[in-house]
This record gives sequence, C-alpha cells and structure tokens, in this order.
Amino acid sequence: NFTPNAFVEEIVAEMKEKIGNDKVVLGLSGGVDSTVAAVLLNKAIGSNLYCIFVNNGLLRKNEFQSVLDQYKGMGLNVKGVDASQRFYDALAGLDDPEAKRKAIGNAFIEVFDDEAHQLTDVKYLGQGTIYPDVIESVSATGGPSATIKSHHNVGGLPDFMKLKIVEPLRMLFKDEVRRVGATLGIDPELLGRHPFPGPGLAIRILGDITPEKVAILQEVDAIFINGLKEHGLYDKVWQAGAILLPVNSVGVMGDERTYEKVVALRAVESTDGMTADWVHLPYEFLMKTSNEIINKVKGVNRVVYDISSKPPATIEWE
Ligand code: XMP
Repeated sequence: NFTPNAFVEEIVAEMKEKIGNDKVVLGLSGGVDSTVAAVLLNKAIGSNLYCIFVNNGLLRKNEFQSVLDQYKGMGLNVKGVDASQRFYDALAGLDDPEAKRKAIGNAFIEVFDDEAHQLTDVKYLGQGTIYPDVIESVSATGGPSATIKSHHNVGGLPDFMKLKIVEPLRMLFKDEVRRVGATLGIDPELLGRHPFPGPGLAIRILGDITPEKVAILQEVDAIFINGLKEHGLYDKVWQAGAILLPVNSVGVMGDERTYEKVVALRAVESTDGMTADWVHLPYEFLMKTSNEIINKVKGVNRVVYDISSKPPATIEWE
C-alpha cells in the first residue's frame, strides 16, 4: 500500500537534508523517470537543480522542442543542448548495433560532461534510476536510464561521474513512479508516454545512420503514433514504433516503377519489456496508417507489420 503523497513528503525532506545548499546536475531524457526525479529534486532544492536535456538528433519528430517547452512550463531550470551533429558524426559509417550504442553512449557522456563542466561547484549528479534498474544494472542492453551506467568503463572517468549520486526513485517500481508523477501534477500525457530507448531512432534504423534516414523515420513514426492516439489505441499499447529497413522494394506509382524503402511497424503489449506480445491492431487502422505513410512519406513505398513476440524476437530490431 504505497501512498504517493507520503512518499513525496518523505523523499523531499530527505533530499533537502542530504543536499542542503549544494548544487545538483541532472540529465533529462523526456521520459517518465528522469522527469519525476527532476520535479522531486526541484521541490527539494529549487534553483540549485540544473537540468540538461540533450537533443541527440535521434528523438521523435518535434520532440526536442515540445518536451523542452513542457519542462520550462513545469518551472524546471533546464538547458536544452542541440548536439545532433555531434551524434551524427559519431555514428557515421557505423552499422553494427552495439557499435552504434557505444558511439551514442560516448557522445552523450562527452556532451553532458561539457555542459556539467560549465556549472561551478556542483556536488551531486541526479539520476532517475528506478528499482528495476538497480537490479538490472548489470544487464547487457541496460534499462532506459542505464546509458550512463553501462558505459562506466569507457575511457577515463568524466568529471561529472566523480559527483555524488542522488536517486530519489531508486526504491520505486514504474507504476509507483507514475503515481508519484500524478501527485506532483505532471501532465498525464507525459506520464503515459511509451518507453523509448536511450539510443532512440538509431536502433530503429537498421544499418548506418544518416540525417536523411532519421527524417524519413521521424515522419513514419509520427503518422503511426498520432494514428494510435487518434484511434484511442495508444494507451492500450505498451510500446510502439516504426523501423526503417535496409532494403528497397519495387513498387508502382502512376505509370512509374519505384524502388524505395520498406518500413516495419511494431506495437507490443508487455508489463516490463522482458516478454512481449505483438498487438492485434485493427486491420482498418493498419490499412489507414499504411496508406497515409506511403502517400505522405517520400522514399517509402511499402509498409509491413511485425507479428513476432518476445521471446524469441526482441522488441527492438537491433
Ligand atoms: P528489447 O529490444 O531488448 O527491448 O526487447 C526491451 C526494452 O528495452 C528498450 N531498449 C533499450 N533501452 N537503451 C535503452 O535505454 C538500449 O540500448 C535499449 N535497447 C532496447 C526497448 O525499447 C524496450 O523497451
């Protein structure tokens, strides 16, 4: 019988006591965990909390600006850093999934370290680690907030990693985090967002990454996700997204033969991401979505739906 109100009161008092007048830096991801952690810390220490939200160029369409605006509306002291080019440079020519993850993790650490460096007298690093992350912190892919942890051993330790850690959510499960977020008045839409992997669209573009491919996938993904919302399906799905496949297929448009990209749509039901079933989305919805994608997104002439469950497939394709 977890009571969000009591938790908020206790943890805010505890953080106040622990942190005192010191400064905390925290990386926001746009996701539920880091956002709730930031709002709690903001309640405890106000403007001594410095948030950094990095655009890695691999977010969903318009996500950087809209989430940044949302954060500012919540009174958070947040700096948006557009580092897209740095991530594209780091990814150039890489097509191995793990090499891509590593490049993204390293670029993130560099960007975050540069930014944290510009702040003086910071004592703490805030993190949105939740209980399952604590248990799983040794897993290969890592949980949504595990990006920093899984790259601990890469190169010398960046300055921000020498900071002391504060993790207000480390004893909570995801549903408890959502309830705490609701108590704090965080927008239900933000709290209900599907999980999104740290490496973002980079692991949904099979093979090497270019800004052009990202732009195509952002359009496809936006049509799919907005469609799910419009048809009242978004909240029935645990996670959904589109995958840009590294193959071209023949199509026909007017009297012209086309030879263009294939995208796969994926929507799964799950409770924790460890196992997952593909969702039986209505045929009508799939038909409308496929038509809209093919008509509107230049460079795509075929849409397929992924009907694999986990295991043996995974949720992501990379
Ligand atoms: P898989 O593909 O392993 O995904 O079935 C399970 C859950 O984890 C997410 N995922 C990641 N999250 N960094 C992350 O932060 C990653 O490298 C990563 N890989 C997979 C995936 O989106 C799903 O929610």
